[in-house]
Amino acid sequence: MLSKMPEETSEYLAAIFTFYGVFTLQGQIVEANDALLAAACLAGPGAWIRDAGWWRDEAARRRLQQGLDQAARGSRLQYQEAVHLPDHGMRRLHIAIGPVRSLDGRVTRLAFGATELAPPSSAGRGATEAEPVGFAARQAAILDALPAHVALLDQSGTIIAVNEAWRRFAAGNGVRDPAAFLGCNYLAACMPSDGSPPSPGDEQAVAIAAALPRILTGELQHFTCDYPCPTAQGERWFRLMATPLPLGAGHGGAVVLHLDVTTNRRTEEALRQMQKMEAVGRLTSGLAHDFNNILVLIIGGLELLMPRLTDGRSRALAGKVLAAAERGSALAERLLRLSRREPTRLQLVDVNEAITIEQKLLQQAVGGTVSIACDLSPEAGSVLVDPNELATALLNLAVNARDAMPEGGQLRLCTCRERATAPQGAEQVVITVQDTGQGMPPEVMARVFEPFFTTKGPGRGTGLGLAQVHGFARQSGGSAHIASAPGQGTTVTIRLPHHDEEPAAPVRLQVL
Ligand SMILES: Nc1ncnc2c1ncn2[C@@H]1O[C@H](COP(=O)(O)OP(=O)(O)O)[C@@H](O)[C@H]1O
Ligand SMILES: [Mg+2]
Repeated sequence: MLSKMPEETSEYLAAIFTFYGVFTLQGQIVEANDALLAAACLAGPGAWIRDAGWWRDEAARRRLQQGLDQAARGSRLQYQEAVHLPDHGMRRLHIAIGPVRSLDGRVTRLAFGATELAPPSSAGRGATEAEPVGFAARQAAILDALPAHVALLDQSGTIIAVNEAWRRFAAGNGVRDPAAFLGCNYLAACMPSDGSPPSPGDEQAVAIAAALPRILTGELQHFTCDYPCPTAQGERWFRLMATPLPLGAGHGGAVVLHLDVTTNRRTEEALRQMQKMEAVGRLTSGLAHDFNNILVLIIGGLELLMPRLTDGRSRALAGKVLAAAERGSALAERLLRLSRREPTRLQLVDVNEAITIEQKLLQQAVGGTVSIACDLSPEAGSVLVDPNELATALLNLAVNARDAMPEGGQLRLCTCRERATAPQGAEQVVITVQDTGQGMPPEVMARVFEPFFTTKGPGRGTGLGLAQVHGFARQSGGSAHIASAPGQGTTVTIRLPHHDEEPAAPVRLQVL
């Protein structure tokens, strides 16, 4: 049974200390003022002072425990400690712990009082401070300097400290009092509660929930896992790394680190995509090359055979076979162009001129329901490309726009010049082709530049249009990008290095 302290005792304590309380000999709170309970994130009588959220590290808690033990044996002691106060950050406290005796002289309770010390204002003030206090403050400062979000957990998984990056991230995502995490269980604070609808990251949450208890007991030495996390700025990816914290005999605990790896993941994904494109491109051109050689034999044979055919029906039949073989050969030639490696004579092409010449053909391709608008900047200038490839790329984009606007709409062709981003880099000529069509979801967008990727039915799409656009841009030393969302239309941007003059020697095309 926890009995209250006499009124006047609390008045004496209130006169001296900002934070005060009376505990059992084991450190359980009998009575405490509101300031202590609020600052230490404790519920009230019955809570344990060692569970106070403000002992940032295990060393501080050990010092407290030693103080309580000493007081229980009848000694009084005072010391200073750096602690984390909600809304104030790190503060230095002067702490006093002493025995409270009954009339017969037995120690029955422990009195605890603490006052906040003024922050050191002049150099050298802290020089005489006890080393352990300085060490704890330094550890806290190191934690706060880390870019990763760090939480220290005790052996039950309760969060006993979080660093500045964690607090900033929590505040940026609507948690008004980041200190509210202190004293909560890590899994409850960070994982979706049961019954919430499935969301990205659930699978990883299960793995984390399974691994963490094993980390806390020291059975598992390291656990790492990447997980998606919805934030105010959209989904981001974090790498969680958890390791046991050796806290001395009988004490477990863990440090959990969360590092934002969104940029790394995007780069890796882009690299994987590039490698896939390259592999498919090589395979395609290899096959197309062999296939074309066979077709050349067939076409040559048919050309020799045809004059010898006297019968009209046979000649007509052979003519059809020849036409089909020539179509096959033209297709093989298109495939070869996707990853052409032989040197070609590139030409200086004024993009505005090229677009103006093509405009009529593009209008025919998109049909009467789609209007074409051009916004060609006189500054755009010239690029060094194969003019036929540029025309084919524009046509492919126009046909895609038409397919995305079955009810009609607008196709905008714009050009402009972009300054070099790198000091030595070339200026870029930018061509954008924008439609007001149905747009596409992210999973389609991720694959559009892949050869043979199509969402159109058999006979309607080959999946080679955007692969050609991409191949052409890369081979010309530039790039192609796509921006789209369902219902929001699509914009394809081609960037090509700006050139003023024809090259002296033939330029070798870049390998896809
Ligand atoms: N302007 C666009 N609007 C919406 N979706 C597009 C657009 N351009 C391309 N796509 C999507 O990308 C896929 C690949 O395009 P592409 O390589 O030209 O092949 P194809 O047109 O033969 O399907 C299309 O099937 C379509 O799903
Ligand atoms: Mg297409």
